[in-house]
Amino acid sequence: MVICSAPGKIFLFGEHAVVYGEPAIACAIELRTSVRVREGKKSKIASPYVAGAVKKISELVELERVNIDIHSDIPTGSGLGSSAAVTIATLFALNIEFDVGLSKEEIAHLGHEVERDVQGAASLTDTFVSTMGGVIFLPSCKRLNSLNCGVVIGNTGLSSSTKEIVDQVAKLKDRHSDIIQPLFHIIGELAKKGEYLVEKGDYKNIGELMNVNQGLLESLGVGSSELAKQIYAARKAGAFGAKITGAGGGGCMVALVDVDDMEEVASAIESVGGRAIYTKVTETGVTHDG
Ligand code: MEV
Repeated sequence: MVICSAPGKIFLFGEHAVVYGEPAIACAIELRTSVRVREGKKSKIASPYVAGAVKKISELVELERVNIDIHSDIPTGSGLGSSAAVTIATLFALNIEFDVGLSKEEIAHLGHEVERDVQGAASLTDTFVSTMGGVIFLPSCKRLNSLNCGVVIGNTGLSSSTKEIVDQVAKLKDRHSDIIQPLFHIIGELAKKGEYLVEKGDYKNIGELMNVNQGLLESLGVGSSELAKQIYAARKAGAFGAKITGAGGGGCMVALVDVDDMEEVASAIESVGGRAIYTKVTETGVTHDG
C-alpha cells in the first residue's frame, strides 16, 4: 500500500492566456489531495482523472487489481487545481506501488496528458505546480522565490467546468481574434513583470498588477457577479490585490494579503457570501506519505 499527496494551486497571473503559450505564474498552496493505492480488489473509479492516470500507468506496466481511495481538502471544480492534484497524487502512488520508475518530470507530463485527454485544452501549469510545488513561471517552468505573505481564497461555492470555460474563451478568440490575441499578450506581459516583482518580494506592485489582470479576465468573459463582489470586498479590506484564480465562471477568487490583514480580508469575503480559505504558498509538491 502507498499513500501520496499533492497540492492545489493559485494563479498570480496568466490563466487562459497560458493555454495559448503566454507566460504565467502559479503557486502551490497548502491544500492537498491524498490518494491511497493498494494492490487488491479493483475499486470503481468515478473520477475521469484517476481513470486516466490508471490507464497511463497500465500502458507501462501490468495493472490488474488496483484499489484507490481519495481524500481531498481542495474543493472540486473551484479553480484550485483539484483535478491536477488527484491526477498527480495517483500517478505518483502508482509509480511507487508498481515500481514503474518514472521521474517527477515524467509524472508532471503524463498528468498533463491526462488533463488534456479529459479537458480538451490544458496547459502544463496545474500538473507541473502540483508535482514540484513552489512558485513557478510558465512556460519555462522556472522556480521563483516563495511568497512570504498571506493568501486568502474566496470560494463562491459554484462549481464551474474548466473545459466549458476554456471552450467559451476559444470561441470568443475565434470571433474577435484581432482584439482577444492582444489581450492574451498583455496578460503574458503582466506575468513577465510579475516574475521580477516576485523575485523582489514586492507584494504591493504584484497586487496592483493582479488587479489589472482581473480587468482583462473580465474582458475575456470569465467573471461573475459573485466573484466580483468578493474581489472588491477583499481589496476594500486592504488586500494588496485580488482576482479570479483558475478558469473563472464560478469557482474561486484569490487575494494576496499582508499576514496582519488576513482576518479582515477573510471576513470581508464572507460578508458578501463567499467562503474564505486561509492558506499559504508551499514549496512542497507531490510527496510519498506512507
Ligand atoms: C485552469 O486552472 C487554468 C486555465 O488557464 C486552463 C489551463 O491552464 O489548463 C483556464
